[in-house]
Amino acid sequence: MTRIGILLSGRGSNFVAIAKAIQEKRLLGAEICVVLSNREDAPGLQAARELGLPAFDVPSAGRKRVEHDAEMVARLHQHGVDLVCLAGYMRLLSPAFVQAFPKRILNIHPSLLPAFPGLDAQQQALNYGAKVTGCTVHFVDEELDHGAIILQRVVAVEDGDDVDTLSARVLEQEHITYANAIQRVVSGRYELRGRRYLRKTERGLS
Ligand code: GRF
Repeated sequence: MTRIGILLSGRGSNFVAIAKAIQEKRLLGAEICVVLSNREDAPGLQAARELGLPAFDVPSAGRKRVEHDAEMVARLHQHGVDLVCLAGYMRLLSPAFVQAFPKRILNIHPSLLPAFPGLDAQQQALNYGAKVTGCTVHFVDEELDHGAIILQRVVAVEDGDDVDTLSARVLEQEHITYANAIQRVVSGRYELRGRRYLRKTERGLS
């Protein structure tokens, strides 16, 4: 059983979608062991408690990144976590954090990376005039929104879209895509060749 630790800073809808996928057996071989937030007022923490999951805030305000990250890593180890899923966690991880879980940290980003990394990705797509955007689940490395891509899903940008309508359609796809990507990683049937994530099937790599 893969032991997942969720890190979030806000709403937590991706976390809830992952929890639901596990509960409904659409995501097998994984359980959420702990939910951590750098913000004590994160609605996602409350949602975790309502689901009966261990949920803790580890405040980051006014603390050095290395110090805060060391506490996060310690908490994850305490709960026996072997896969970390960032779900709206609004902090860049320190190299020490990334190295504590090599190729075992995932993130979801609301664009088709490498387009529009960083904040307000949906607004960036609109401003750029992109006709398609989407979401990306990727391994986390030391750079922002940068590690090897596991899965992407495309969302068309409509003429009538504003940031709210576009974000809502992207979010719908995020909820499906994150659980699917976690399932792929949990299954272990893949190989990483440089930046390329390749699925292994009975007939070899696909
Ligand atoms: C999502 O759009 C995710 O892609 C981004 O932050 C947002 C978090 O939303 N990294 P939620 O907290 O999961 O609802």
